[in-house]
Amino acid sequence: MRTPPSVVRTVKDLRTFVENERAKGKRIGLVPTMGALHHGHLSLVDHISGHVDVPIVSIFVNPSQFGEGEDFETYPRNEQADLEKLATTNARLVYAPGVEEMYPPGDSTKVSVQGISEKYEGAARPGHFDGVATVVSKLLLQCLPDAAVFGEKDYQQLAVIRQFVRDLGIPCSILGAPIVRENDGLAASSRNVYLSPEARKVAGKFNLVLRALVKSVLSGVDVRTAEFEATQSLLAAGFETVDYVSVVDPVSLQPLGTFESAARVLAVARLESVRLLDNMAIEAPDT
Ligand code: PAJ
Repeated sequence: MRTPPSVVRTVKDLRTFVENERAKGKRIGLVPTMGALHHGHLSLVDHISGHVDVPIVSIFVNPSQFGEGEDFETYPRNEQADLEKLATTNARLVYAPGVEEMYPPGDSTKVSVQGISEKYEGAARPGHFDGVATVVSKLLLQCLPDAAVFGEKDYQQLAVIRQFVRDLGIPCSILGAPIVRENDGLAASSRNVYLSPEARKVAGKFNLVLRALVKSVLSGVDVRTAEFEATQSLLAAGFETVDYVSVVDPVSLQPLGTFESAARVLAVARLESVRLLDNMAIEAPDT
């Protein structure tokens, strides 16, 4: 194991590090996270290492993206364990600011993305994407990386980020990285620890149901029928509620009436009040 990356907590120290590396001609990459790191997060460091010389990981549990009654207070935090995990990667620096560094007293600016952020997670969690867009804008402007990477696990989040980075002209490439799954196919998530062992077993079926939906759509089953059948299968498997199973355009996230050549299925189902998110590409074999 390598030594853990060093930690800075202020924009000033972050910029000094970045300027020194840039002076050596290095390309900088940022991996924004909220900590409680698992192998999904670590894969993002690997992914960006193929594009930049110096990966930086930020760890900040962002209060503004949690709604009332959500788990901001109880969100798992363990910086020491995170640093030990990062010691196994190419991460060179961890940026772990406090809330006042990110939101100085008097802070009153919000980044709000219309359209693409309104449905699905935006509808279920009012204000969530404003919080994400605001904090990611701040992180990108504080660090000024050449590239930043986000997981396809949070597919709508990735789409929202691509949108405001383009709209605001932030000079940073946004990379998407594939979903990392556990052995049974459940997408790795910091919130999986909230599940009881029984619920954890049921959770593994999520991915199977989505795979079956992808197969049905590709075999010509009508999109609405496939969504309905997937919802019924999730309920039959033991999920308590299904917030949505929706086949959408992979870029605009508009619901598709019929499948042509490429789509994405977005889904959220609940177990023991934990909202589990998953999504999957639907691509005709010759695309
Ligand atoms: P967090 O949930 O910590 O996730 C950090 C990054 O890891 C996100 O880009 C997320 O999509 C990615 N990720 C999580 N689980 C993954 C998995 N199983 N496979 C691949 N990537 C995965 O997402 C956030 O934090 C925050 O909203 C943030 C962008 C940091 C802004 O606060």
